[in-house]
Formats: sequence, C-alpha cells, structure tokens
Amino acid sequence: MSKIGLEISETPRDVAFCSHAITKPDELTEVVDASIDDRFKNNPLVIEDPKIRFYAGKPLRTPDGYALGTLCVIGTEPKTLTQTQKKALDHLADLAMRLIDERINSPVAVIGRAVESQFPLGILLTDASKTDNPIIYCNRGFEKMTGYTQAEIIDRNCRFLQGKDTQTDTVELMRTAIAENRAIVVIVKNYRKDGSEFWCELTLSPVYDGNGKVIRYLGIQDDVTQRVTAQQALEDSHNELKREAKQREETELKSQHLQDELVHLGRVSTMAQMATGLAHEINQPLMAISQSAYSAQRIAQGAETIDSIMIECLEDIQSETQRAGDIIRTLRRLIRRDNPQKSKVNINNIAEQAIRLLKRDPRAHNIDIAVNSGNIPPVWADRVQIAQVLLNLLRNSIDSMSTVTNTDSKGDEITVTTLQQNDMVHVIVHDNGPGISPDVSLFKSFETTKDDGLGIGLSISRSIIELHHGKIWHDESTESGCSMVFTLPVDSPTA
Ligand SMILES: Cc1cc2nc3c(=O)[nH]c(=O)nc-3n(C[C@H](O)[C@H](O)[C@H](O)COP(=O)(O)O)c2cc1C
Repeated sequence: MSKIGLEISETPRDVAFCSHAITKPDELTEVVDASIDDRFKNNPLVIEDPKIRFYAGKPLRTPDGYALGTLCVIGTEPKTLTQTQKKALDHLADLAMRLIDERINSPVAVIGRAVESQFPLGILLTDASKTDNPIIYCNRGFEKMTGYTQAEIIDRNCRFLQGKDTQTDTVELMRTAIAENRAIVVIVKNYRKDGSEFWCELTLSPVYDGNGKVIRYLGIQDDVTQRVTAQQALEDSHNELKREAKQREETELKSQHLQDELVHLGRVSTMAQMATGLAHEINQPLMAISQSAYSAQRIAQGAETIDSIMIECLEDIQSETQRAGDIIRTLRRLIRRDNPQKSKVNINNIAEQAIRLLKRDPRAHNIDIAVNSGNIPPVWADRVQIAQVLLNLLRNSIDSMSTVTNTDSKGDEITVTTLQQNDMVHVIVHDNGPGISPDVSLFKSFETTKDDGLGIGLSISRSIIELHHGKIWHDESTESGCSMVFTLPVDSPTA
C-alpha cells in the first residue's frame, strides 16, 4: 500500500513505520524527523536508503473497527504537516477505505468468494477465443465433484468428462449451442477421475466482451444423480404398474370371452343332442311319407283316369321328403362334424334348383327371384350342403321381405349373382327387403332376427362354408336391402 517512492513492495513488519501507525487506529501518526526520533533513528530505512525523514500515516479502518493497513506519505526531508494537509490525509484515508470496502463487498466479489469456498456446485470457465474452448479455471466444487484437480484439467476441453454411456444426442445439443453462442441446460452422464459415473445437470452460458464478442464460456455443474435415479425408478414402477394393469385387463377379457364361449358351447351341445334325437325321430315319419307317396303315385298311374295334377303333387311330395331327409342327414353329419361329401358341382345349377324349390313357397309367389349366372368354373363341393346354404339364405330373404310392405316401385326382388374373383367363386344373394341391423351377431348360433326362428341356420351355413374352405359374410356396404355373400375355392379334389 505504501509503495510510492520505495523500490521494495513489502517492508518487513519490524521496520515498517506503518506498524506504529496502525496501533493507533483513530489517530494520524506524524514523524517530523525520523533521524532524531527515538522510535526510528536506528531504523535501516532511516540510516540507509531511502533515508526516510518524514512520515505521516492514517490507519485504514473497516466499519467494524478492523485496521486493514495505513494510508501514508513519506519524505526524505524533515517536514511538519499543516492542519489542512492533515485533514486532507484523513479524508483520503476515509475515501480509500470506502473504495476498498466497496470492492471487497461488491456482488461480483462476494460471488467470487462464495464460489471459491464451500460451494456445492462445480464452476468452469473456458476460453472461447481459443481453439477447442480450453478450460482456464475450475472451482473447488468441481474438483470435489469430479476428483480432478485444476492443474490436471487446465487447457483441456471439457469432453474428457464423457464416457461410453454419455448420450450422443445431448453432446450434439451442447456442440450446436456453443457453436451458436447460446446458453443451454442439459442433463448429461459424466465420469469422475476414478471412472465412476454421475448425472450432471450442466448449465452453459456465454460471456461477452465490451464489443459483444463471446470470449468465455461459463459452465455450472450440479450432481443430480439421486434425482435422476429416483425419477427413473419412479418411471420404471409406473410402467410396471401400467403393464400389470394391461395384463390384468387382458386376462379378465380372456376369461370373460372364455366364459361366453362356454355358455354358448353349452347351449350348442344341448341343442346338438336335441337335434340328433330330433333328426332320428323325424327320419322315421319322413321315410313313411316317402313310401306312401311312392305307393300313391304307383296307384295313381295305374288308375283308369290318370290325374296328372295328382301325380305331379305326389312327385313333389316324394322329392320334398327326399330333400328333407337329405337336410336331416346333413345336419347330423354336421353335428358329428363329418367331412362334406364333395363332388364337382356347378353353383349356377344349384342356384336354379334352389329357386325352383322355393317358388313353391306361397310367400315367394310375388317375389321376383332371378339368377345372374356368371361365367364360373365348377367347384369341388358337397352339393346338398351348398344347396342348403343357398336355400337358407334365400329363405331368410323371403322371411325378411314378408315382414314389411314393400314401397319399392319395382316390387320384391331377390337376385343370386355368381362370379369368379381370383381363385374363388363368389355367390351373392341380394334382396331389396328391410336389411339387417348392425347390432345383430348374424352367425352366432341361437341369435336370430326372426320371431319364430331358432338362429341356427346361418351358424350351420357358416360351418358348411368353412368346411369347404370358403367364407360367408353380410356385405354391410350394400346401401339398400341385404346382401349375403359366400365364397368357395375353385379348387382340386384334394382340398
Ligand atoms: C464451460 C463449458 C463446460 C462444459 N462442461 C461439460 C461437462 O461438465 N460435461 C460434459 O460432458 N461436457 C461439458 N462441456 C461440453 C464439451 O466441452 C463439448 O462442448 C461437447 O462435448 C460438444 O463438443 P464436441 O462434440 O466437440 O465434444 C462443457 C463445455 C463448456 C463450454
């Protein structure tokens, strides 16, 4: 502090004039002629160069009374200060003390001291004006956090903190922010000197010079390992809970589905037993009817006057009982899950036959039923079963149309269209009746739209078509009426 006129920057305490002055903090110490002053006459600074003669010093006291040093004037000639000069020295000492106090306690100085003491965060400063942004400073917090000393890291880029699990996308974010002189906050996996890893919440901020150029980068590191791992554990357990809930839901859904299936199966098997018994019971009278019709036919043929209408009726009775017998046999085979008796059949022919049969139904008299025969190849199928499917679909159409009065000017219409698409023959039964509500599960046994129906017709039809490797469905895209479609493969006898 008392450097003016002296070459030495520090004067030993035992010879310093100031050490005398500082003992009287409130007074101005004045030495008029040191060569005759008992306190200083033997002082080497007086005897030898610079041969001090005059000294006046005023202690610099902090507001809480602590004397930091002195403000002094020194001369090589004896001198006595005037009152004005003494006052000026007092004033100067006060001013110096205020300036020192302001510097010591300025926010920047306080932050600097805080950063250097027990600060729990790491602080790094890099020189952004140099190639690869080397470190020029780190605080003790950084040394404690990473295990590196300042000497070990000076002049290096901070990337030495990264390791095998450091996220490359986060490093990329930092690289871009620094290249664009932006501040950024990231959480990055870093590695200590001993190789152990930690999660570092890193705040990077550019520091500008007076011309707006970035000259430094400030980095603040916070070890957030506990927070990140707790968060990860929480997320893991949350995901686990979600997975368990989903699994539970799926299990419940499956068991509900199974229960539904079991209930359904129970009903089907009861009905199957009833149907087998019924088929057996019905078969007996059918045989008898057929036999009687045959006998009546023979008698009618042998009669004197041949009644051709009667003979036709008897023929009808016989062929209908035959068909009823076929259907019952099919039903029994289906219940026993027998394979279809396949042969090469022409679907167009079956459609024509089915329509001829249905035409005898009085309810069908006013319905225009037509076949739109496409150019289709024969299919390998059980003729009776396919006829049964067609009959079933056509009867459903007739039934649905008889429930409502048609307002369509064309009148009631059913068309059976056949066509080939790729290696499948499509059969479409379309009617202009009231259509089917989307809520009805059409192909489930014992679900029916009819008041007096059993709901097994479509279910049996589906079994038949599936046994033939085809599909059957309700075409919901049809705008008016109802379209049922089934397909059969154009396949070989081996299928
Ligand atoms: C002041 C400052 C402090 C940094 N501190 C870290 C740090 O603690 N951990 C870290 O992984 N990267 C830190 N970086 C980022 C790397 O130094 C470097 O910019 C980053 O890896 C992207 O650049 P690169 O792709 O060239 O490695 C810091 C960067 C600066 C400027």
